[in-house]
Amino acid sequence: MGGAGQTRRKLTNRPTLGDRLDPTRQPLTQARHLPGYIYTSPEVYALEKEKIFMKDWLCVARAEELENPGDFMTHDVMGDPIVIARDENGNLNAFSNLCRHRGVEVAQGCGNTKEFSCPYHGWLYDLKGRLTGAPYMKDTEGFDPKTCRLKPLLIDVWAGWVFVNFDAEAKPLAEFVAPFEKAFGFIKMEDLRVAERLVYDLECNWKFVAENLVDVYHAGTVHGATFGAHIDMEDIARNALDANGSYAIFYDAKPHTLSGKPLFGKIPAIEHMPESFSGNGFLAPNMHMFTRIENLRPCVHWPLSLTRTRLIYYNLFPKEFFDRPDFEDGVKAYREFYTQVVEEDSEMIESLQRAMSAKRFEPGPMSRLEVGVHGVINYNLSRIFSNP
Ligand code: FES
Ligand SMILES: [Fe+2]
Repeated sequence: MGGAGQTRRKLTNRPTLGDRLDPTRQPLTQARHLPGYIYTSPEVYALEKEKIFMKDWLCVARAEELENPGDFMTHDVMGDPIVIARDENGNLNAFSNLCRHRGVEVAQGCGNTKEFSCPYHGWLYDLKGRLTGAPYMKDTEGFDPKTCRLKPLLIDVWAGWVFVNFDAEAKPLAEFVAPFEKAFGFIKMEDLRVAERLVYDLECNWKFVAENLVDVYHAGTVHGATFGAHIDMEDIARNALDANGSYAIFYDAKPHTLSGKPLFGKIPAIEHMPESFSGNGFLAPNMHMFTRIENLRPCVHWPLSLTRTRLIYYNLFPKEFFDRPDFEDGVKAYREFYTQVVEEDSEMIESLQRAMSAKRFEPGPMSRLEVGVHGVINYNLSRIFSNP
């Protein structure tokens, strides 16, 4: 009896994962970076899934990627597979990709279909996720196929972006994206089209990608050969977060080409802006917006595992540019530029990840140019270690 009581007391007094983070929670000029376990612990990763990715609206696609009835795509959110499908009425639906029989994924990859047939025992589902057929199940007591369906997710569209949400109680998407709409609405990104979608898998925890993309401090050293030569780091280091973990800033810089010149022209909605028009934003937890005068280069990053992250870069242009004879060459030039930028970054963040498991790693102090990093780190901590 006494022994069990002692064990209980010991467990209660054990420091929790969030207890050792005070040095990071200080104001920027006194703050230190995070200890390694925040980027290597399966317990922290599980909390991130539960507290962030199962709660927030998540950007999963452009609506144009699911243009026609029957178009579908699959996606995995930290081990929870989902399907997004456009039905016969043109409406978008999202549901779990877990067969209601034993959980096998009923849809694979992406494409166009009339229905989903589970490859294991053949249960059939329509584009809304409703069960339409289940062989040899008539005698099963208490099983009513009419009320059986793949578990739905909330789904909505903002500015041409498709978002889903696992939490049925979530606030409406319009409210979630309100700061972003206020900041970027004038660009009218719903009128732009995807020229390219580039996918990179990086050997690092997802938070390093988020932090790196808001970190202007490294731009001069790492990106001197690409965009780092064209920006004023002091000017961009103003990206203090809103209460919901997001920010948007606008400044002068050159287009994302090696020449620093636009290749095609200007986005119609911002035709009155100078060639140096540039913007940068973050919508927590995983969407970044980079805009220049002729294109938008948003990216979304997804945790694939504790130490692996998928980065998806879109390149959006006005529809009118797609018919130009030099369009493909221009898109290729952008691709080469972005690939170089991602390579520059990935070497650094994969090295960061390795450091997190090093016995002698000790988190160092932050620079004032790390205002965005400090903001994103502390916003994530506030979410991960919040009380339920
Ligand atoms: S697991 Fe899908 S039909 Fe059996
Ligand atoms: Fe970078």
